[in-house]
Amino acid sequence: MLRAPALTPALAPIDPAGLADALKPFGESRMLPPAAYVDPAVFDWEQRNFFGGGWTCLGFSAELASPGDQRAESVGDGSVLLTRDEDGVLHAFANFCRHRGHELLPCGISAQRQSIVCPYHSWTFALDGSLRTAKGFKGEAGFDETRWGLVELPVCEWHGLIFVDGSGRAGSLVQSLSDLEPLVAPYEPERLVIRGRHTYDAAANWKILTENYHECYHCPMIHPELCRVSPPKSGENYRPAGAWVGGWMDLRDGMTTMSLDGTSSGAPLRGLDETGLRTVIYVNIFPNVLLSLHPDYVMTHRLTPLAADRTIIECTWAFAPEALELADFDPGYAVEFWDITNKQDWGACESVHRALGSPHDVAGPLSPDEDAVYQYVTMVARGYRGQSVWDPDARLAVAG
Ligand code: FES
Ligand SMILES: [Fe+2]
Repeated sequence: MLRAPALTPALAPIDPAGLADALKPFGESRMLPPAAYVDPAVFDWEQRNFFGGGWTCLGFSAELASPGDQRAESVGDGSVLLTRDEDGVLHAFANFCRHRGHELLPCGISAQRQSIVCPYHSWTFALDGSLRTAKGFKGEAGFDETRWGLVELPVCEWHGLIFVDGSGRAGSLVQSLSDLEPLVAPYEPERLVIRGRHTYDAAANWKILTENYHECYHCPMIHPELCRVSPPKSGENYRPAGAWVGGWMDLRDGMTTMSLDGTSSGAPLRGLDETGLRTVIYVNIFPNVLLSLHPDYVMTHRLTPLAADRTIIECTWAFAPEALELADFDPGYAVEFWDITNKQDWGACESVHRALGSPHDVAGPLSPDEDAVYQYVTMVARGYRGQSVWDPDARLAVAG
Protein backbone atom coordinates (compact mmCIF):
# COMPACT_ATOMS: atom_id res chain seq x y z
CA MET A 1 0.00 0.00 0.00
CA LEU A 2 1.01 3.63 -0.28
CA ARG A 3 3.17 4.79 2.53
CA ALA A 4 2.92 8.51 3.29
CA PRO A 5 6.29 10.19 3.78
CA ALA A 6 7.20 11.33 7.29
CA LEU A 7 5.73 14.64 8.40
CA THR A 8 9.19 15.98 9.11
CA PRO A 9 11.17 16.37 5.88
CA ALA A 10 12.67 13.04 4.90
CA LEU A 11 16.32 13.36 3.92
CA ALA A 12 17.63 11.09 1.19
CA PRO A 13 20.43 8.69 2.16
CA ILE A 14 23.04 10.50 0.11
CA ASP A 15 26.32 12.33 0.75
CA PRO A 16 25.45 15.94 1.82
CA ALA A 17 28.75 17.25 0.41
CA GLY A 18 27.80 15.88 -3.03
CA LEU A 19 24.43 17.64 -2.82
CA ALA A 20 26.12 20.88 -1.80
CA ASP A 21 28.32 20.62 -4.92
CA ALA A 22 25.23 20.06 -7.09
CA LEU A 23 23.60 23.16 -5.58
CA LYS A 24 26.50 25.53 -6.20
CA PRO A 25 25.86 28.35 -8.72
CA PHE A 26 25.65 27.35 -12.37
CA GLY A 27 29.17 27.21 -13.78
CA GLU A 28 30.63 25.95 -10.50
CA SER A 29 28.25 23.11 -9.76
CA ARG A 30 28.58 19.36 -10.34
CA MET A 31 26.10 16.70 -11.36
CA LEU A 32 24.42 14.66 -8.61
CA PRO A 33 26.72 12.16 -6.87
CA PRO A 34 26.90 8.82 -8.75
CA ALA A 35 25.14 7.10 -5.83
CA ALA A 36 21.98 9.08 -6.71
CA TYR A 37 21.71 6.98 -9.87
CA VAL A 38 22.84 3.53 -8.73
CA ASP A 39 22.23 3.13 -4.98
CA PRO A 40 19.09 1.02 -4.28
CA ALA A 41 18.58 2.91 -1.00
CA VAL A 42 18.31 6.21 -2.90
CA PHE A 43 15.95 4.57 -5.38
CA ASP A 44 13.72 3.36 -2.54
CA TRP A 45 13.72 6.85 -1.05
CA GLU A 46 12.73 8.36 -4.41
CA GLN A 47 9.92 5.86 -4.82
CA ARG A 48 8.48 6.86 -1.43
CA ASN A 49 9.15 10.59 -1.53
CA PHE A 50 9.13 11.62 -5.23
CA PHE A 51 6.80 9.10 -6.91
CA GLY A 52 4.62 8.07 -3.95
CA GLY A 53 5.11 11.37 -2.12
CA GLY A 54 3.64 13.87 -4.57
CA TRP A 55 2.00 14.32 -7.97
CA THR A 56 2.86 11.50 -10.39
CA CYS A 57 1.36 10.98 -13.85
CA LEU A 58 -0.57 7.71 -14.24
CA GLY A 59 -1.71 8.01 -17.84
CA PHE A 60 -4.31 9.71 -19.99
CA SER A 61 -7.88 10.80 -19.26
CA ALA A 62 -8.92 9.22 -22.59
CA GLU A 63 -8.00 5.79 -21.16
CA LEU A 64 -10.66 6.25 -18.45
CA ALA A 65 -13.27 8.06 -20.50
CA SER A 66 -16.51 6.23 -19.59
CA PRO A 67 -18.39 5.69 -16.31
CA GLY A 68 -17.28 2.35 -14.89
CA ASP A 69 -13.78 2.49 -16.41
CA GLN A 70 -11.24 1.31 -13.84
CA ARG A 71 -7.48 0.91 -13.96
CA ALA A 72 -4.76 0.12 -11.42
CA GLU A 73 -1.25 1.57 -11.71
CA SER A 74 1.82 1.23 -9.53
CA VAL A 75 2.95 4.45 -7.88
CA GLY A 76 6.12 4.59 -5.84
CA ASP A 77 6.16 1.46 -3.72
CA GLY A 78 2.37 1.13 -3.75
CA SER A 79 -0.48 1.18 -6.22
CA VAL A 80 -3.52 3.29 -7.06
CA LEU A 81 -6.97 2.37 -8.40
CA LEU A 82 -8.52 4.92 -10.77
CA THR A 83 -12.26 4.94 -11.47
CA ARG A 84 -14.62 7.12 -13.53
CA ASP A 85 -17.96 7.43 -11.73
CA GLU A 86 -21.52 7.82 -13.07
CA ASP A 87 -21.19 11.62 -13.09
CA GLY A 88 -17.96 11.54 -15.08
CA VAL A 89 -15.82 12.38 -12.04
CA LEU A 90 -12.42 10.68 -11.85
CA HIS A 91 -11.41 9.15 -8.50
CA ALA A 92 -8.14 7.72 -7.21
CA PHE A 93 -7.96 5.28 -4.31
CA ALA A 94 -5.20 3.43 -2.52
CA ASN A 95 -5.53 0.07 -4.28
CA PHE A 96 -6.48 -2.12 -1.34
CA CYS A 97 -9.69 -3.39 0.17
CA ARG A 98 -10.75 -2.08 3.56
CA HIS A 99 -11.54 -5.60 4.79
CA ARG A 100 -8.17 -7.37 4.88
CA GLY A 101 -6.27 -5.47 2.27
CA HIS A 102 -6.45 -7.51 -0.93
CA GLU A 103 -5.58 -5.56 -4.10
CA LEU A 104 -8.77 -4.47 -5.82
CA LEU A 105 -7.25 -4.75 -9.32
CA PRO A 106 -3.77 -5.97 -10.32
CA CYS A 107 -1.40 -3.21 -11.49
CA GLY A 108 -1.51 -2.51 -15.21
CA ILE A 109 -4.99 -4.03 -15.57
CA SER A 110 -8.14 -2.20 -16.74
CA ALA A 111 -11.78 -3.12 -16.10
CA GLN A 112 -15.20 -1.80 -17.05
CA ARG A 113 -17.72 -2.41 -14.29
CA GLN A 114 -20.29 -0.30 -12.45
CA SER A 115 -18.87 -1.26 -9.04
CA ILE A 116 -15.53 -2.24 -7.54
CA VAL A 117 -15.55 -5.84 -6.36
CA CYS A 118 -12.78 -7.17 -4.13
CA PRO A 119 -11.63 -10.54 -5.54
CA TYR A 120 -10.96 -11.99 -2.05
CA HIS A 121 -14.26 -11.96 -0.06
CA SER A 122 -16.32 -9.90 -2.52
CA TRP A 123 -16.81 -6.69 -0.60
CA THR A 124 -18.32 -4.32 -3.12
CA PHE A 125 -17.68 -0.59 -3.42
CA ALA A 126 -19.35 2.12 -5.50
CA LEU A 127 -17.27 3.95 -8.11
CA ASP A 128 -16.93 6.84 -5.65
CA GLY A 129 -15.30 4.46 -3.16
CA SER A 130 -18.16 4.11 -0.67
CA LEU A 131 -18.79 0.61 0.66
CA ARG A 132 -21.95 -0.92 -0.83
CA THR A 133 -22.04 -4.45 0.51
CA ALA A 134 -19.91 -6.45 2.90
CA LYS A 135 -21.01 -10.09 2.69
CA GLY A 136 -22.23 -11.42 6.04
CA PHE A 137 -22.10 -8.09 7.87
CA LYS A 138 -25.71 -7.05 7.19
CA GLY A 139 -27.36 -6.01 10.46
CA GLU A 140 -24.21 -6.77 12.49
CA ALA A 141 -24.22 -4.58 15.56
CA GLY A 142 -21.31 -2.19 15.64
CA PHE A 143 -20.52 -2.45 11.92
CA ASP A 144 -20.74 1.02 10.45
CA GLU A 145 -20.31 0.65 6.70
CA THR A 146 -19.77 4.40 6.23
CA ARG A 147 -16.42 3.93 8.00
CA TRP A 148 -15.07 1.41 5.51
CA GLY A 149 -15.03 3.21 2.18
CA LEU A 150 -11.84 3.16 0.10
CA VAL A 151 -8.99 5.53 0.97
CA GLU A 152 -9.32 8.38 -1.53
CA LEU A 153 -6.30 10.28 -2.85
CA PRO A 154 -6.08 13.68 -4.59
CA VAL A 155 -6.36 13.28 -8.35
CA CYS A 156 -6.05 15.95 -11.04
CA GLU A 157 -6.72 15.86 -14.79
CA TRP A 158 -4.41 18.39 -16.41
CA HIS A 159 -4.67 18.78 -20.20
CA GLY A 160 -5.68 15.14 -20.63
CA LEU A 161 -3.05 13.72 -18.28
CA ILE A 162 -4.00 12.05 -14.99
CA PHE A 163 -1.92 12.93 -11.93
CA VAL A 164 -2.31 11.43 -8.46
CA ASP A 165 -0.81 12.72 -5.21
CA GLY A 166 0.04 9.54 -3.32
CA SER A 167 0.92 11.50 -0.18
CA GLY A 168 -2.27 13.56 -0.10
CA ARG A 169 -0.12 16.47 1.06
CA ALA A 170 1.64 17.87 -2.01
CA GLY A 171 -0.72 20.84 -2.40
CA SER A 172 -2.37 22.00 -5.61
CA LEU A 173 -0.93 20.63 -8.89
CA VAL A 174 -2.70 23.37 -10.83
CA GLN A 175 -0.93 25.96 -8.71
CA SER A 176 2.39 24.18 -9.06
CA LEU A 177 2.04 24.19 -12.86
CA SER A 178 0.50 27.67 -13.13
CA ASP A 179 3.47 29.12 -15.03
CA LEU A 180 3.46 26.13 -17.42
CA GLU A 181 -0.26 26.45 -18.16
CA PRO A 182 -0.04 29.30 -20.74
CA LEU A 183 2.69 27.45 -22.67
CA VAL A 184 0.74 24.18 -22.92
CA ALA A 185 -2.85 25.47 -23.27
CA PRO A 186 -2.62 26.52 -26.97
CA TYR A 187 -1.72 22.94 -27.94
CA GLU A 188 -4.93 21.59 -26.31
CA PRO A 189 -3.38 18.16 -25.58
CA GLU A 190 -6.71 17.07 -24.06
CA ARG A 191 -8.33 17.41 -27.51
CA LEU A 192 -5.76 15.33 -29.38
CA VAL A 193 -6.06 11.67 -30.30
CA ILE A 194 -3.28 9.14 -29.69
CA ARG A 195 -2.29 7.43 -32.94
CA GLY A 196 1.14 6.04 -32.04
CA ARG A 197 2.47 4.22 -29.00
CA HIS A 198 5.81 2.56 -28.19
CA THR A 199 6.99 1.04 -24.93
CA TYR A 200 10.73 1.01 -24.27
CA ASP A 201 12.70 -0.75 -21.55
CA ALA A 202 15.93 1.14 -20.80
CA ALA A 203 18.78 -0.12 -18.60
CA ALA A 204 19.31 3.33 -17.14
CA ASN A 205 18.24 5.36 -14.13
CA TRP A 206 15.12 7.47 -14.70
CA LYS A 207 16.98 10.72 -13.93
CA ILE A 208 19.63 10.04 -16.60
CA LEU A 209 16.83 9.80 -19.16
CA THR A 210 15.39 13.10 -17.97
CA GLU A 211 18.74 14.89 -17.86
CA ASN A 212 19.43 13.73 -21.40
CA TYR A 213 16.06 15.19 -22.46
CA HIS A 214 17.03 18.58 -21.07
CA GLU A 215 20.04 19.25 -23.30
CA CYS A 216 20.91 19.21 -26.98
CA TYR A 217 24.65 19.49 -26.29
CA HIS A 218 24.73 15.80 -27.33
CA CYS A 219 22.62 16.25 -30.50
CA PRO A 220 25.43 16.85 -33.03
CA MET A 221 27.10 13.60 -31.93
CA ILE A 222 24.18 11.17 -31.80
CA HIS A 223 21.17 12.72 -33.60
CA PRO A 224 21.98 13.41 -37.28
CA GLU A 225 18.27 13.17 -38.21
CA LEU A 226 17.25 15.68 -35.53
CA CYS A 227 19.98 18.13 -36.48
CA ARG A 228 18.75 18.15 -40.09
CA VAL A 229 15.39 19.61 -39.03
CA SER A 230 16.22 21.57 -35.85
CA PRO A 231 19.44 23.51 -35.10
CA PRO A 232 20.87 21.94 -31.93
CA LYS A 233 22.02 25.27 -30.48
CA SER A 234 18.72 27.07 -31.12
CA GLY A 235 16.19 28.12 -28.51
CA GLU A 236 16.25 28.93 -24.83
CA ASN A 237 15.24 27.40 -21.55
CA TYR A 238 12.46 28.74 -19.31
CA ARG A 239 12.85 29.82 -15.68
CA PRO A 240 9.99 27.91 -14.03
CA ALA A 241 8.73 28.35 -10.51
CA GLY A 242 6.73 25.11 -10.34
CA ALA A 243 7.48 21.40 -10.61
CA TRP A 244 8.76 21.46 -14.17
CA VAL A 245 11.79 22.27 -16.31
CA GLY A 246 11.94 22.93 -20.03
CA GLY A 247 12.80 24.99 -23.06
CA TRP A 248 12.11 25.45 -26.75
CA MET A 249 13.99 24.96 -30.03
CA ASP A 250 13.55 26.26 -33.57
CA LEU A 251 12.70 24.39 -36.74
CA ARG A 252 15.08 25.05 -39.63
CA ASP A 253 13.79 27.17 -42.52
CA GLY A 254 11.65 25.05 -44.81
CA MET A 255 10.93 22.43 -42.13
CA THR A 256 7.37 22.27 -40.81
CA THR A 257 7.82 19.70 -38.05
CA MET A 258 10.10 17.08 -36.52
CA SER A 259 10.12 14.26 -39.08
CA LEU A 260 12.81 12.66 -41.20
CA ASP A 261 12.25 15.09 -44.11
CA GLY A 262 10.75 17.97 -42.12
CA THR A 263 7.30 17.56 -43.66
CA SER A 264 4.02 16.67 -41.98
CA SER A 265 1.16 14.46 -43.09
CA GLY A 266 -0.93 15.80 -40.20
CA ALA A 267 -2.47 19.22 -39.58
CA PRO A 268 -1.17 22.25 -37.65
CA LEU A 269 -2.71 22.53 -34.19
CA ARG A 270 -5.44 25.14 -34.36
CA GLY A 271 -4.45 27.17 -31.27
CA LEU A 272 -0.88 28.01 -32.32
CA ASP A 273 0.45 31.40 -33.39
CA GLU A 274 3.39 32.01 -35.80
CA THR A 275 5.92 31.24 -33.07
CA GLY A 276 4.20 27.98 -32.13
CA LEU A 277 4.30 26.87 -35.76
CA ARG A 278 8.09 27.44 -35.98
CA THR A 279 9.21 25.95 -32.66
CA VAL A 280 9.07 22.81 -30.53
CA ILE A 281 8.63 23.06 -26.75
CA TYR A 282 10.19 20.37 -24.53
CA VAL A 283 9.08 20.21 -20.89
CA ASN A 284 9.50 17.73 -18.07
CA ILE A 285 6.76 17.70 -15.45
CA PHE A 286 8.44 16.26 -12.37
CA PRO A 287 8.91 13.40 -11.80
CA ASN A 288 7.79 11.30 -14.75
CA VAL A 289 6.41 13.14 -17.79
CA LEU A 290 8.29 14.51 -20.80
CA LEU A 291 5.92 16.58 -22.90
CA SER A 292 7.12 17.55 -26.39
CA LEU A 293 4.86 20.09 -28.08
CA HIS A 294 5.20 20.21 -31.88
CA PRO A 295 3.35 22.40 -34.41
CA ASP A 296 1.20 19.40 -35.45
CA TYR A 297 1.45 16.77 -32.71
CA VAL A 298 2.21 16.22 -29.04
CA MET A 299 4.59 13.48 -27.96
CA THR A 300 4.48 12.28 -24.36
CA HIS A 301 7.01 10.08 -22.59
CA ARG A 302 5.82 8.60 -19.30
CA LEU A 303 8.60 7.13 -17.18
CA THR A 304 8.02 4.28 -14.76
CA PRO A 305 11.17 3.35 -12.86
CA LEU A 306 11.35 -0.36 -11.94
CA ALA A 307 14.77 -0.23 -10.30
CA ALA A 308 17.73 2.13 -10.00
CA ASP A 309 19.04 0.70 -13.28
CA ARG A 310 15.81 0.06 -15.17
CA THR A 311 13.07 2.35 -16.50
CA ILE A 312 10.01 1.62 -18.60
CA ILE A 313 9.17 4.46 -21.00
CA GLU A 314 5.74 4.65 -22.59
CA CYS A 315 5.87 7.02 -25.56
CA THR A 316 2.73 8.25 -27.29
CA TRP A 317 2.03 10.52 -30.25
CA ALA A 318 -1.25 12.48 -30.39
CA PHE A 319 -2.73 14.40 -33.32
CA ALA A 320 -5.61 16.79 -33.97
CA PRO A 321 -8.94 15.08 -34.79
CA GLU A 322 -9.02 16.97 -38.09
CA ALA A 323 -5.63 15.47 -39.08
CA LEU A 324 -7.09 11.99 -38.73
CA GLU A 325 -9.65 12.89 -41.38
CA LEU A 326 -7.04 13.70 -44.01
CA ALA A 327 -6.82 11.16 -46.82
CA ASP A 328 -3.02 10.91 -46.64
CA PHE A 329 -2.67 11.06 -42.84
CA ASP A 330 -0.14 8.57 -41.48
CA PRO A 331 1.30 9.02 -37.95
CA GLY A 332 4.48 7.28 -39.09
CA TYR A 333 6.15 10.57 -40.05
CA ALA A 334 6.29 11.54 -36.36
CA VAL A 335 6.55 8.07 -34.83
CA GLU A 336 9.41 6.89 -37.02
CA PHE A 337 11.44 10.06 -36.49
CA TRP A 338 11.19 9.92 -32.73
CA ASP A 339 11.55 6.15 -32.51
CA ILE A 340 14.97 6.52 -34.17
CA THR A 341 15.82 9.45 -31.90
CA ASN A 342 14.52 7.74 -28.76
CA LYS A 343 16.70 4.68 -29.39
CA GLN A 344 19.74 6.90 -29.94
CA ASP A 345 19.00 8.56 -26.60
CA TRP A 346 18.41 5.36 -24.64
CA GLY A 347 21.69 3.94 -25.97
CA ALA A 348 23.59 7.00 -24.72
CA CYS A 349 21.78 6.92 -21.37
CA GLU A 350 22.55 3.22 -20.85
CA SER A 351 26.23 3.95 -21.50
CA VAL A 352 26.16 6.77 -18.93
CA HIS A 353 24.48 4.45 -16.43
CA ARG A 354 27.17 1.79 -16.85
CA ALA A 355 29.88 4.37 -16.07
CA LEU A 356 28.04 5.58 -12.96
CA GLY A 357 28.53 2.12 -11.46
CA SER A 358 32.32 2.45 -11.75
CA PRO A 359 34.27 2.97 -8.50
CA HIS A 360 36.32 5.60 -10.36
CA ASP A 361 33.39 7.81 -11.35
CA VAL A 362 32.90 11.23 -9.76
CA ALA A 363 30.21 13.83 -10.47
CA GLY A 364 31.16 15.87 -13.56
CA PRO A 365 30.68 19.56 -14.46
CA LEU A 366 27.92 21.04 -16.61
CA SER A 367 28.55 22.89 -19.87
CA PRO A 368 27.06 26.36 -20.52
CA ASP A 369 24.52 24.60 -22.80
CA GLU A 370 23.25 22.47 -19.91
CA ASP A 371 21.43 25.08 -17.84
CA ALA A 372 18.14 23.13 -17.97
CA VAL A 373 20.02 20.10 -16.65
CA TYR A 374 21.24 22.39 -13.86
CA GLN A 375 17.67 23.43 -13.08
CA TYR A 376 16.61 19.79 -12.97
CA VAL A 377 19.56 18.60 -10.89
CA THR A 378 19.06 21.38 -8.32
CA MET A 379 15.33 20.56 -8.12
CA VAL A 380 16.19 16.93 -7.36
CA ALA A 381 18.95 17.89 -4.91
CA ARG A 382 16.61 20.18 -2.96
CA GLY A 383 14.05 17.36 -2.92
CA TYR A 384 16.72 15.06 -1.47
CA ARG A 385 17.16 17.65 1.30
CA GLY A 386 13.47 17.40 2.18
CA GLN A 387 12.11 20.45 0.35
CA SER A 388 8.81 20.03 -1.50
CA VAL A 389 9.34 19.91 -5.25
CA TRP A 390 5.71 20.87 -5.83
CA ASP A 391 5.69 24.08 -3.77
CA PRO A 392 6.45 27.02 -6.13
CA ASP A 393 6.95 29.38 -3.20
CA ALA A 394 9.71 27.17 -1.82
CA ARG A 395 11.46 27.05 -5.21
CA LEU A 396 11.24 30.80 -5.72
CA ALA A 397 12.52 31.45 -2.20
CA VAL A 398 15.62 29.38 -2.96
CA ALA A 399 16.11 30.90 -6.42
CA GLY A 400 15.64 34.41 -5.10
S1 FES B 1 -9.96 -8.44 1.58
FE1 FES B 1 -11.45 -7.63 0.28
S2 FES B 1 -13.28 -8.60 0.84
FE2 FES B 1 -11.77 -9.43 2.17
FE1 LIG C 1 18.75 13.23 -27.44
